[in-house]
Amino acid sequence: MKIAMVGSGYVGLVSGACFADFGHDVVCIDKDATKIERLHAGVMPIYEPGLAELVGTNVKSGRLTFSTDLASSIEGAAAIFIAVGTPSRRGDGHADLSFVYAVAEEVAANLKTPAVIVTKSTVPVGTGDEVERIIRESGTKVQFGVVSNPEFLREGAAIGDFKRPDRIVIGADSEWAQGVMREVYRPLFLNKAPILFTSRRSSELIKYAANAFLATKITFINEIADLCEKAGGDVQDVARGIGLDNRIGGKFLHAGPGYGGSCFPKDTLALLKTAEDFASPLRIVEAVANVNESRKRAMGRKVIDALIGQSGDDSVRGKKVALLGLTFKPQTDDMRDAPSLAIAQALIDAGVEVAAYDPEGMELAAGMMPHVTMTKGPYEAIEGADAIVLVTEWDAFRALDLDRVKRIARAPVLVDLRNVYDPAEIRAAGFTYTSVGRG
Ligand code: UGA
Repeated sequence: MKIAMVGSGYVGLVSGACFADFGHDVVCIDKDATKIERLHAGVMPIYEPGLAELVGTNVKSGRLTFSTDLASSIEGAAAIFIAVGTPSRRGDGHADLSFVYAVAEEVAANLKTPAVIVTKSTVPVGTGDEVERIIRESGTKVQFGVVSNPEFLREGAAIGDFKRPDRIVIGADSEWAQGVMREVYRPLFLNKAPILFTSRRSSELIKYAANAFLATKITFINEIADLCEKAGGDVQDVARGIGLDNRIGGKFLHAGPGYGGSCFPKDTLALLKTAEDFASPLRIVEAVANVNESRKRAMGRKVIDALIGQSGDDSVRGKKVALLGLTFKPQTDDMRDAPSLAIAQALIDAGVEVAAYDPEGMELAAGMMPHVTMTKGPYEAIEGADAIVLVTEWDAFRALDLDRVKRIARAPVLVDLRNVYDPAEIRAAGFTYTSVGRG
């Protein structure tokens, strides 16, 4: 089966490479000629574990190709996926659908063979109707259907998530379109991955509801962590204690500096806009988005408190802090809405000098944090620091040489925003230690 993937960003590239690996013939299309040129040369536009290898194998087998030309690439494709960005629209937080609609128009103008047009981009409820209208009003005589098929990939684990999904959701309003999608996902169907067929609108809502629920779970445990700190509990134990209840589930109950990334912050805001448009308030999601936003900066204050606690001096001006990890989570170079941005800014605003290291995110981070000194490695950042802050739980920071850290830091103060270290052990090693929700 031939598949066209319009948009060769994170979602398009991972999905395209995985479909090719299942045996489909896939062409990944992008307007960005440099990106396509680099993909031809085997250079990935993003860091994602296993992606370069997967792309390489499938290019070699001839099942995966790249192109900048949508018109010729979609010919003969039974499914045309739209996997372009839907960033927050400047000014109001609504999902910006201009890229999606531009692709729909270009597909409509060039459709020569029957195809199902599939929105994989995260799009608000009703977008599929609009895509269908655009194509219908182009006057095309070719048979087509419009389907919603949201992605549930996590950055850093995207290939595994694609190949072993918890579920596949397909929102299709016609039997014919459902049949085509069944063929697209036949390899996973054979693997017994649950496939849920719904209406197109339900499918569009499932994507946002899932992300909003996960964001709620994280924010809930973060607030419980704050209570643990004040009341003298351990949030890790509380999370385990509630997570063992199957109705709650143990995942996404890891307290930290607040969620970031390209999805939760933008998708919760977009869902709130949808709720507003339908005059159907989502007050819980509203609280989640607000609580999370203020939490990121509050983590800067937590670091400042640790600096004050260590010196007894109210002014932290001129003190130095080392940030370990800048990306919104490990195994990615993505800096979008990363908590590190708000934390670094809060410290800089208080006159603190900030040095930082991240295994993959430095290139992007450098442009976004002009006042932070980027270093070659974790120990270079720690050199002379009055406090060390573990912001992102990269494996490289899980087993720091603590003796070396103590020797080179100005003070052995560790603020562990991901609860990576064992409080008793790290204190026994001579550190002043603060973590999240372990009162
Ligand atoms: C998220 C969802 O997990 C995916 O299912 C979804 O497909 C994707 O958004 C999307 O909409 O495209 P992602 O943003 O890559 O994936 O990363 P997550 O692993 O979900 O982490 C998001 C944020 O939550 C990170 O900042 C992470 O540190 C934080 N988090 C996660 C916690 O603070 N605690 C947790 O227990 C879990």
